[in-house]
Amino acid sequence: MSFRLQPTPPARPNRCQLFGPGSNTKLFAKMASSDADVINMDLEDSVAPSDKDTARANIIQAISEHDWGNKTLSVRINGLDTPYWYRDVVDLLEQAGERLDQIMIPKVGCAADIYAVDALVTAIETAKGRTKKINFEVIIESAAGIAHVEEIAASSPRLVAMSLGAADFAASMGMQTTGIGGTQENYYMLRDGAKHWSDPWHWAQAAIVAACRTHGVLPVDGPFGDFSDDDGFRAQALRSATLGMVGKWAIHPKQIALANEVFTPSEEAVAEAREILAAMEQAKANGEGATVYKGRLVDIASIKQAEVVVKQYEMITG
Ligand code: COA
Ligand code: MG
Repeated sequence: MSFRLQPTPPARPNRCQLFGPGSNTKLFAKMASSDADVINMDLEDSVAPSDKDTARANIIQAISEHDWGNKTLSVRINGLDTPYWYRDVVDLLEQAGERLDQIMIPKVGCAADIYAVDALVTAIETAKGRTKKINFEVIIESAAGIAHVEEIAASSPRLVAMSLGAADFAASMGMQTTGIGGTQENYYMLRDGAKHWSDPWHWAQAAIVAACRTHGVLPVDGPFGDFSDDDGFRAQALRSATLGMVGKWAIHPKQIALANEVFTPSEEAVAEAREILAAMEQAKANGEGATVYKGRLVDIASIKQAEVVVKQYEMITG
């Protein structure tokens, strides 16, 4: 039991983070007019090494050129193991307009990674007199990242969101798969000759959610590679939402509506949660801490569960 209150994460929708390579300028206007809550223009792995300089310049221009509405605007910089990242940070913080909300740091392995970026960002913000402090989001996508997930979640007041990056994570862990998220053919239990597939991403997701919830950071599910498989995306996203994640990446526009649908609590779920709250109000008026709702126990913990659903719905629907 802890006497500390669990800090609340930022109260903003993060159902879908839409990615697009910084080298593909024709996507920017489409990203800006999409229904994604968060936009991630990419300088990292969707941009070839020979295009890094151009992509940086493209993104800096796009930040002030397009109308991003009320979306959270984020740029994924290159990893700290590359020769590109410092230039990403320097150019973005020196040249990009105040519309930029966030930078995403990939392949984070320990809290010191965030400290290093924070030091550079803080110095440039002060030198340039930037008035809006840049937030951070990180990707957990290595064995070191998941091993140090809690210290990473606690690393900086700038940190607002943390995603699981399934592809790099699988590679770093030495997992025998080339799939990006979702069901993996060889990960099954056998009973009476029948296969029952399990979820190889479950442990990493649950570890990320626990670290994030402890430190007031938004936990997010990363990419689902097979953008032709709507049912597969939906199944993965439903599992993530059930575990406490608030959203998922889209690497193709057709995944945006799917993510928005899954991570907006359904009318039925909200109606049931409100009924539970009403049942508990009645119980409290009768001097009881527990009662029966539709044949099952509800008690004071049920109030908190129901409030998660209702608050998420109200925050999203505004
Ligand atoms: N954001 C906005 N619009 C996008 C888009 C994106 N990420 N990806 C594709 N579109 C647009 C296309 O321009 C096209 O528009 P049009 O109908 O006006 O011509 C439409 O959506 C359909 O695109 P489609 O032809 O099916 O895909 P594609 O072959 O053009 O691109 C990808 C496929 C995967 C290369 C592309 O979606 C992409 O670059 N995704 C992001 C990759 C990324 O950022 N990865 C890093 C994070 S893991
Ligand atoms: Mg990656």
